Amino acid sequence: MESSTFIRPEKGAELELTIDALAYGGNGVARMEGYVVFVSGAVPGDRVRAVVTKRKKAYAEARTREVLEPSPERIAPVADHPGAPWQVLPYERQLAVKQEQVNDALTRIGHLDGYVLDDIVPAPAQWRYRNKLEYSFGTGEDGALVCGFHAPGSWHEIVPIGDCLLASERSNVARDQVLAWCREQGLTAFDRRTHTGFLRNLVVREGRRSGELQVRLVTGPGELDGMSLAAAVDCEGLMWTRTEALAETTQGGVTEIVAGNKSLQEELCGLQFSISPHAFFQTNTEMAEQLYAIAAQRADLKGWERVYDLYCGIGTVGLSLAARAGEVWGLEIVEQAVADAISNARRNEIKNAKFFAGDVRLALRDLVEQASRPDVMVVDPPRAGLSQKIVRRVIEASPRRIVYISCNPTTLAPNAAQLVEAGYALRRVTPVDMFPQTPHIECVALLERA
Ligand SMILES: C[S@@+](CC[C@H](N)C(=O)[O-])C[C@H]1O[C@@H](n2cnc3c(N)ncnc32)[C@H](O)[C@@H]1O
Repeated sequence: MESSTFIRPEKGAELELTIDALAYGGNGVARMEGYVVFVSGAVPGDRVRAVVTKRKKAYAEARTREVLEPSPERIAPVADHPGAPWQVLPYERQLAVKQEQVNDALTRIGHLDGYVLDDIVPAPAQWRYRNKLEYSFGTGEDGALVCGFHAPGSWHEIVPIGDCLLASERSNVARDQVLAWCREQGLTAFDRRTHTGFLRNLVVREGRRSGELQVRLVTGPGELDGMSLAAAVDCEGLMWTRTEALAETTQGGVTEIVAGNKSLQEELCGLQFSISPHAFFQTNTEMAEQLYAIAAQRADLKGWERVYDLYCGIGTVGLSLAARAGEVWGLEIVEQAVADAISNARRNEIKNAKFFAGDVRLALRDLVEQASRPDVMVVDPPRAGLSQKIVRRVIEASPRRIVYISCNPTTLAPNAAQLVEAGYALRRVTPVDMFPQTPHIECVALLERA
């Protein structure tokens, strides 16, 4: 067939495509006379049959139905796991793609140059590295309750998982214990189309150093025999969150402690941390330590500096820098996380760190007024990065040095470009592989007032 027949294919159409690159986010890229199709489940060199799931003016999205001719680069997958789509690429190749995508984002989106791009820091553990897994409940084809992940591209179909190779064995056992108990009790899964049914999600978190496990069951409104569940699950803390939200989220709702500890204990960078169930904690503990060590090197503290830790979560970055700083001021929107940060400072006998609850967008000016302007600012925003307005607030605060920890190079790039426009120089960027077998990219960027 001529490729011109494929121009702007209809949703639902089946196409035969050759993949020539990987896009940011992990999809394969195929081109039909300049019209781009992003194909999930495909890697460069594959010839695939794919179904179009979305059609836009400038591009389409498609999902692989069948790999007709596999790329010579492909390796056999280790596990049937929707959360590990890049396992079909050798680890070295995954690293090279991530490195390239960071550079690509900075040069093509940010039009930046003159910076040093370090080699990506690889992860020593390429499997079982996650300290947090969020599972979903669903109903299998035979009507049985299942606990697993969303099928690729589906918001309602849940595929069961046996041994989740991104989690520890103990974490897997806890998930199976909860599932067995729920089946025994005859509980039903929340149906995402009809909004009926009880069981929604299961969050299993693990203190990799402390060995503690925190299990949180997320359900709709209803009753639960907590004592019986606690007897069935081997963990140090058991929580139950009830929510009426329609969206698939494990945040929000009302959380109660069913049994054991109310927060998870963990050790990081030689400090002790408590982590509340709704507070953020880096999901790869071992790599988080490396990430923070790089951030500390870039901060290059001499001991007198005023450091801001924006988007501070439970205070891990700020507290790990405190011994080398004059003072640390942290800002975070989740109140529970701020309470953790304050008690974590106390617990580690750190007296020069203060933490505040607030939205960086609204509270940064107040912080500058209260604390005076920072010498060094660490920012670690969610994937959306900083809005232009927040970047303007950062520029107003006028730190000498900015250490930007980013989980999305495509938002780091425009943020860095805006800072460069305002007189900062992008000195150095270090990609860090926190998430092997996935397309996710983390990096640490250093910007200095030129
Ligand atoms: C990527 S996490 C980083 C947390 C912490 N630096 C760490 O390494 O554990 C981003 C954090 O930003 C917080 N956050 C999101 N939006 C925010 C906002 N508008 N203002 C302040 N904090 C926000 C989230 O709750 C989360 O704790």
